[in-house]
Amino acid sequence: MSLKINFSNYENIVFFTGAGMSAESNIPTYRGSGGIWHKYKFEEYACQVAFDRDPEKVLEFHKIRRKAVLECTPHNGHHAIAKFERSRGGVSIVTQNIDGMHQRAGNINITELHGSLFRVRCLNHGTHEDLGAFTEFKCSCGQYLRPDITWFGDSLDQGVMEKALSLISSCDLFISVGTSGVVWPAAGFPEIAKKAGAKCIEINPEPSEMSYLYAETIQGKAGEILPDLLL
Ligand code: OAD
Repeated sequence: MSLKINFSNYENIVFFTGAGMSAESNIPTYRGSGGIWHKYKFEEYACQVAFDRDPEKVLEFHKIRRKAVLECTPHNGHHAIAKFERSRGGVSIVTQNIDGMHQRAGNINITELHGSLFRVRCLNHGTHEDLGAFTEFKCSCGQYLRPDITWFGDSLDQGVMEKALSLISSCDLFISVGTSGVVWPAAGFPEIAKKAGAKCIEINPEPSEMSYLYAETIQGKAGEILPDLLL
């Protein structure tokens, strides 16, 4: 990798991450070979209609995913971003990932755009993070608790979206890692950053839908590129 960045030239840096960020931790991506949506139909496991039809089936799918994620550990790329955040101010992560890996690596300023595998919510009574407290996922009001994830057809949480937009429109360096750039509104973030004047860099072993927007594209894997880039 030849690109060197003088990070002292930048005040507000956003890492915008997608499933490819966690691929080297053995968490499957969504698309491409081995992608989750090839194995599982999202219509059966990742939308409100599926949950209303068969909550136990959808909850079991998410329980399996949670267990699988907990068997994985953050890789050198996650650790490099965490070390980078500790070393200076003005670093934020806006992630589409629901796997909690940035938290486990030690990052603090994380905006989880699509929610978290490690929270559930009652449609009437809000979110719970203490998943261990539930033997069956039901709120005290009797409703099933659904995963606090932005499923297909859901709107993004307004507060989370506003925070992400504020970070992205005020950053001067935007580093995208491991996203295909096909899921909106997240797919529009590089353009927002670019219009705000940020330098936009993409890290991905393959071109994404949004590659044309980036000033620099580093073709490679997160776990190999980031430790070098953020030295
Ligand atoms: P995708 O599965 O669509 O794309 C993963 C991207 O990661 C692809 O562009 C790969 O080329 C790239 N990639 C693979 N291995 C990599 C590696 N080692 N290092 C860097 N990049 C790598 O995942 P997302 O773009 O995150 O939503 O998908 C967006 C959303 O669609 C997800 O948040 C999810 C899904 O439906 C929800 O679950 C709510």
